[in-house]
Amino acid sequence: LINLDKLTYAGNLENLQDVEQHPNYTFVHGDICQKAVVERLMKDTDAVVHFAAETHVDRSIMDAGDFITTDVYGTFVLLEAARKSQITRFIQISTDEVYGTAMSPEGVSRPSLETDPLMPLSPYAASKAGADRLAFSYWTTYNVPVIITRCSNNYGPYQYPEKLIPLFVTNALDNIPLPIYGDGHNTRDWIFVGEHCKAIDLLLHSSGYDGEIFNIGANKEYSVIQITETLLDILEKPKTLMQFVKDRPGHVPRHAVDTSKFQRSFGWSASADFSEMLERTVRWYREHEQWWRRIRDKDSGYKRYYQKQYQQRVD
Ligand code: DAU
Repeated sequence: LINLDKLTYAGNLENLQDVEQHPNYTFVHGDICQKAVVERLMKDTDAVVHFAAETHVDRSIMDAGDFITTDVYGTFVLLEAARKSQITRFIQISTDEVYGTAMSPEGVSRPSLETDPLMPLSPYAASKAGADRLAFSYWTTYNVPVIITRCSNNYGPYQYPEKLIPLFVTNALDNIPLPIYGDGHNTRDWIFVGEHCKAIDLLLHSSGYDGEIFNIGANKEYSVIQITETLLDILEKPKTLMQFVKDRPGHVPRHAVDTSKFQRSFGWSASADFSEMLERTVRWYREHEQWWRRIRDKDSGYKRYYQKQYQQRVD
């Protein structure tokens, strides 16, 4: 397994300590936009799982440049190298953000289907939609064995504390207000990261399905307020920490995916208990204070981002 990673602000070699000594594992510090590196590595590759991306919606609203470069151009570089190689699988990790608000083409609210039109609402989502469609075109045009996955919101250990759950857990542990955008009624479907990985593993070891798109999710839809209240209960912190702030521009009211195609094809669906996994995640952050303190207390880039996004200091 070759792990090609640029180690941007959210990358951290500490997260890979458990696997770095494994005989089948190699780490390469590099950028998917660098054609020479990608072409060299692709020569020894059977399958590609393309996770590499700028992923945070709020950062894309501040400055979309890196999103276009990494998510769109980087995907192009990978696909070009894949086209000239003998790989048997190219899994494009897309996102349910590409659908925009979950609804039928007639405008009725329901979980998104793989056949729904794409209506991305943020520069991040648009960059992923570009990558998603580019990957598909390399299947239709060049027969690159592409599979596209569109997963819902992941949570779990090691998640960079800019996404909702790790941000709110670490803020609450420090008794800093939890900034809820708008009225907090926006809903997302939450999947434990290990279950997302399980689904990708099934795809990686399957045959057929070239050119197919699969939604991945857990059918666990909760609003931001519900998540926040649950986290505060687990942490035994007061609800007064909840702070309603200016809404995110282009804030998607509902993301949810219909996962029946995946279930039909692989006989598997995410089944982990949400409260149990959330408690496990909170426990991880409690037990790994050093890990997140290094980001929150010592990383000046994080502090600058926090100040700019929330007009508040993190310390
Ligand atoms: O749906 C999959 C996507 O989920 C992934 O493709 C993205 O990479 C990932 O960032 C995530 O996008 P979201 O925008 O849904 O995740 P985020 O954690 O930023 O926000 C989740 C919800 O919480 C959303 O309704 C906005 C709200 N929120 C978020 C933050 C960071 C707040 O109310 N306050 C906050 O400070």
